[in-house]
Amino acid sequence: MKKIFAVILSISLIMGLAACAGKVEVPSKKDVQKEVEKEYDMDFDLDSKDIAEDGSEAEWVFISEDGSLQVTVSWSAKDPDEFDFDEEELAVLPDGNSGAIPDPIDAKGSAMVGVSMPTKDLQRWNQDGDRIKNDLEAAGYEVDLQYAANDVYTQVSQIENMVNSGCDLIIVAAIDSASVSEALDLAAQAGIPVIAYDRLVYGTDNVDYYVTFDQYQVGQLQAQYIVNYLGLDYNSGPFNIEITTGDPDDNNAMFFYSGAMDVLNPYIESGKLVVVSGQTDFTDVATVSWKTENAESRAESIISACYSDGTNIDAWLCSNDSTALGVANALASYYTGSYPVITGQDCDIANVKMILDGTQSMSVFKDTIVLADQTAYMASQILSGQTPDINDTVTYNNGNKVVPAYLCEAIVVDANNYSDILIDSGYYTEDQLS
Ligand code: GAL
Repeated sequence: MKKIFAVILSISLIMGLAACAGKVEVPSKKDVQKEVEKEYDMDFDLDSKDIAEDGSEAEWVFISEDGSLQVTVSWSAKDPDEFDFDEEELAVLPDGNSGAIPDPIDAKGSAMVGVSMPTKDLQRWNQDGDRIKNDLEAAGYEVDLQYAANDVYTQVSQIENMVNSGCDLIIVAAIDSASVSEALDLAAQAGIPVIAYDRLVYGTDNVDYYVTFDQYQVGQLQAQYIVNYLGLDYNSGPFNIEITTGDPDDNNAMFFYSGAMDVLNPYIESGKLVVVSGQTDFTDVATVSWKTENAESRAESIISACYSDGTNIDAWLCSNDSTALGVANALASYYTGSYPVITGQDCDIANVKMILDGTQSMSVFKDTIVLADQTAYMASQILSGQTPDINDTVTYNNGNKVVPAYLCEAIVVDANNYSDILIDSGYYTEDQLS
């Protein structure tokens, strides 16, 4: 639930601002935090702040210490004695990352959950599957976890088997956004609810909920990292860039691509960014099955056609870690110029190591623990007859209907914050990354 309101600053803070003869000073983080804590009578931590260079505007994002509330405070020099508060309740899994499904839950000992994952080839899907299984088993459910080797027919028949063997709920991360819809029709006929996991299923009424990250925002975060890294807003350039995105059958790939291109296009149009290969259309930059080898061979062709004469590549937008690995492999074998900024997604161990040795610049972290816990929680809510928590009822139209969704938050990880985000949280150990 969102709530927006304005707060007039306390007298002491107004006096402080006015005291700065003539020029209105941006309030300090400490003062703003004090106002927030006074307003809510709770402790808060600063999550991020953004202050305009000329000091005319500022925004601080605070999260309450118990993680239940996010408050965004905006301030403008035009109205210096007023803060605008934008408050948003955050979903809290009471047991955090402990793996236990939080109360209230009425685990039906006999209930069985089918979990259909795309492939064991990528580290992330193994983590997702294991985590959902452990969560649900810990709560007393039986789990049928299947991986489909990135083969659509295998996935369809695995889902059909889940229906026929009497699963009470199915969780599916689809290989192909459209091809599992018939299997889901079968599930609906048998009265089995379906949760789409990470990837939305298209062209069916028979997907009940969707648990995911904001995939469009993932693309934006990747592109914005490049914009900041190259200083595109103040360096004159031009800078050379290439683009590698994901599997055309995976609907998320289009979200990553469009989020990124919406950020990059103005710079491409103004000539500050140049795609030397000329390949910008989704179909040209896609990577079938997200395979490292496919990304690598396309990158090799681009390097030999466009960069073997010593032209530098300044940035390579990659939509995820497996494609970033392919591009990095091709660069290592065929490229001799200065090393580009390379983006990724998933924080796979191999890629975090690359971030540490400088061969990849960043990865968007979509915490599989958060996603899996949220999904297991939603499954338990549905199976115990509750209305599941959702926080988006408008964005994910699958062609047949808007699928109610729960969106988790993605985070940019690079060499500066990997330790805070990945190690201090317990997601990885130092040993795994060394
Ligand atoms: C996407 C997913 C990404 C990435 C990719 C490759 O659908 O959202 O996080 O893992 O698949 O499997």
